[in-house]
Amino acid sequence: MEDRIVDAKIQAEDSELDTHLRPRTFDGYIGQEQAKEGLKIAIAATKQTSEPLDHILLFGPPGLGKTTLATIIANETGVNLRPTSGPAVERAGDLAAILTNLQEGDILFIDEIHALSRAVEEVLYSAMEDFCFDIMVGKGPSARSLKLTLPRFTLIGATTRAGALSSPLRDRFGATYRLDFYTENEIEQILQRSARILQVSLPDDCAKLISQCSRRTPRTANRILKRVREYALVKNGGSITSDIVRATLEMLTIDEAGLDEVDRKILATIIEQFKGGPVGVNSIAAAISEETQTIEDVYEPYLLQAGFLQRTAQGRIATEQAYRHLNIPLPQSKSPLPL
Ligand code: ADE
Repeated sequence: MEDRIVDAKIQAEDSELDTHLRPRTFDGYIGQEQAKEGLKIAIAATKQTSEPLDHILLFGPPGLGKTTLATIIANETGVNLRPTSGPAVERAGDLAAILTNLQEGDILFIDEIHALSRAVEEVLYSAMEDFCFDIMVGKGPSARSLKLTLPRFTLIGATTRAGALSSPLRDRFGATYRLDFYTENEIEQILQRSARILQVSLPDDCAKLISQCSRRTPRTANRILKRVREYALVKNGGSITSDIVRATLEMLTIDEAGLDEVDRKILATIIEQFKGGPVGVNSIAAAISEETQTIEDVYEPYLLQAGFLQRTAQGRIATEQAYRHLNIPLPQSKSPLPL
């Protein structure tokens, strides 16, 4: 499938955008006040004690700033950030290579930490707990275990699914922070900050329009802003107006609620093929040829939080708001729908 503008997963065009727009200190980081507060205190404490920071787990839907926060934590603590990701660390040996290259105090950032294999997770336990690492050397009867001492490091793990971590791994984090969707006002502030960095003027009504369609997700907001800027440049001498924003959103087939064609297809499928639900996520995935995991991690969190979808033990249900949004008449005979 083509990249979706509203898909909060990282896409190819993001790296350039990210390096420019990503705040490097807490001062530039808008929102997530609870996480910021806890982290600032932890960092201030570690500076006084010279102990490394406790291992930190960040979780929440994609695009909310987990990687950005990890970068800020490293900057504010004054240590190196060594980024990797769960899928990239395939074998215990890969992890050994990374761990033995760390310096005292470094932060190892593992994005998508839920994707680590059990074998790698197990190696990580002792590394996190005792800063040591057991490897097997040799083969057959002469094989023996060798204990390597590691520099004292901090692990920052990021995941969209805290429930997918094994409990021994989860228990080894000293602090866990949950990142939540931003408010529309915070997204407007993020857009204004990005517009300043990109050196474009963004009228308040335009920031509001973009924010309403950004699924309360900074990555999506910044991506739309970039498209609006391009559209304004080509069609309006670079000047951003509400008409330019509306035309860009139309071109991107994003509606006023921030839903794109795939979101609308999910809701329409539940309503039209499954009588509004409840229907299991596997059946929805099969009906629209998507992966179950992608629906759960990428599409569903916002549809749930914006009130278009409800998750029950029996399956997913389209809410009254979903019927209204798609202009589909409400069923007469059913028991009242969730609002
Ligand atoms: N870019 C991505 N996330 C951000 C945030 N929380 N504040 C400012 N800019 C951001």
